Formats: sequence, structure tokens, C-alpha cells
Amino acid sequence: MTKIIKSVLEWKNVHSSNKLFRKSLGFVPTMGALHDGHVSLFRKSIEENECTVVSIFVNPTQFNDPDDLQNYPRVIEEDLKILEASGVDYLFYPAYKEIYNDSYRYRVCETMFSKHLCGEFRIGHFEGVLTVVLKLLNIIKPSKAYFGEKDFQQYKLIDDMTKALFIDTEIVSCPIIRDKDGLALSSRNLLLTEEERKLVSNFPRILNSGKSYIEMKLELEVLGIKVDYIEEYAGRILGAINIGKVRLIDNVPLQNTN
Ligand code: PAJ
Repeated sequence: MTKIIKSVLEWKNVHSSNKLFRKSLGFVPTMGALHDGHVSLFRKSIEENECTVVSIFVNPTQFNDPDDLQNYPRVIEEDLKILEASGVDYLFYPAYKEIYNDSYRYRVCETMFSKHLCGEFRIGHFEGVLTVVLKLLNIIKPSKAYFGEKDFQQYKLIDDMTKALFIDTEIVSCPIIRDKDGLALSSRNLLLTEEERKLVSNFPRILNSGKSYIEMKLELEVLGIKVDYIEEYAGRILGAINIGKVRLIDNVPLQNTN
């Protein structure tokens, strides 16, 4: 049974009464609408730890676009079934006030890498991400926390933050899980129309094509897909696109291309 914890105080009580500080504790932060990408993180945590906690919190401070926040899929009943079936021990499912007791007066601001790639197009996004992740790590106090390489810039910024701020949690990165046609699984895929869903499978195919970044952009734009960026970073090609109202990101290793 996955036990649901809704408040910081409740978690503190469980943490001390079950002596979780003596156990290896794995943590997977999410915003819900769970899919097999998330489940791969749960599995790795369960494999590597005595106890696994998942959080579901649609974090408003990381949404630069109010429509995106409003439309973000929320399917808690289905999520609970997935958590149970995966064997997750605890779900931390807080309300806004539990996390933002300061009304977001205090923030984590990274001044360099967070301003590039997605940061250039989503002002304030990584400030929101880093702040919520720091709060969650301080609440849960995990030995290890798991992040997907799909959000590679996010993973890098979080890993660097824990080192910069001497946070005692090991940050573990996990490979990208894809659909049969190559599209990286994402909660936002639920928002695509059938037609958009078909079209968007061109995104990973083009990133892997070995063409120049200019050619990749052109090919996507001819298909009616707006490109925010396609750029190289840390041995990967990272890209962000907009199809209709949905924004998707992906990245592939550089050696896949010529
Ligand atoms: P969310 O988009 O729900 O993703 C939660 C975790 O699942 C992230 O670490 C993400 O990289 C990973 N993930 C998503 N799709 C994946 C896929 N196809 N393969 C592998 N891993 C995948 O990322 C967030 O939430 C938030 O920004 C959060 C870190 C929870 C802070 O609010």
C-alpha cells in the first residue's frame, strides 16, 4: 500500500517514528500525470533503496505561462494506481500552502546556465524548479533523488545546486523512456491532438538525423512545428519545440549524429 502524506508535519512524524533516517531513502519528485518515464525512476529508486517516496506537486512557480499551469494534466486517481502497482512506499502530496509557507519570498536563483536553452524562453522557470526541489529535499531528507535525462538542463542545474549548497542527497540521473515511435514520454503528450501526436514523432527522428542544426530547424518548421532552440550541450543535442499550445523538449546523444 502506498501511504499518502499531505503535510510536512505528518512526514516528519513518519520519518522519525519509522526511523527512516536509519534507512536508505529514495525520492522521486514529480508533477503527476504519471507515465512509464516516471515509473522507470520509481523502479530505480526501489532497486537502490529500502524505502521510496514520490511527490506529486504541480509547482505553480515554475510555470511562466498561466494557461500551461491551468491545462497541466491532473489525474490523481490514476496516479495512485500507478504508485501502488509500482510498489512505492509513500506519496507526498502537499497543498500549495504547505510548500510555499513564505508565499515564494525566498527563491533559489542560478545566474548562468539557467538563463540559457529553456531558461531563455521560460523566464523564471528554473528559479521555480530549483526552489521547489530544494524545499522538497529539505522536507523529505532522502539519501538519493532521481531525475530523468529527458529534462537534461533541469537535472544538471539540480545536481549543481546540491553541490553548491552542500545538500546531503545524491542526485541520480536516469535514461529517457520513449514511446514506440521514438517520442519521449511526457505528461504534456496527453494534451496533443491525434494529428499533433503523429506529427511530433518527427522531433526525435530529426534530432537524430545527423543534419546541421539549421537544417533540423527548417525541417521542423516546414512541418508547422515552431522551434525554440536546437543546441549542443555536454555531448548532447537538446531541443525544444511548440506544437499548437504544447511545448515539448527532448535530447539525444551527439554520437548518434555525424
Ligand atoms: P515531471 O515533468 O513530472 O517529471 C518528473 C521526473 O520524471 C523528472 O525528473 C523528469 O525528467 C522525469 N521524466 C519525465 N519524462 C521522462 C521520460 N520520458 N524518461 C525518463 N524520465 C522522465 O520535472 C518535473 O516534473 C518538475 O520540474 C519537478 C522536478 C518535479 C519539480 O517541480
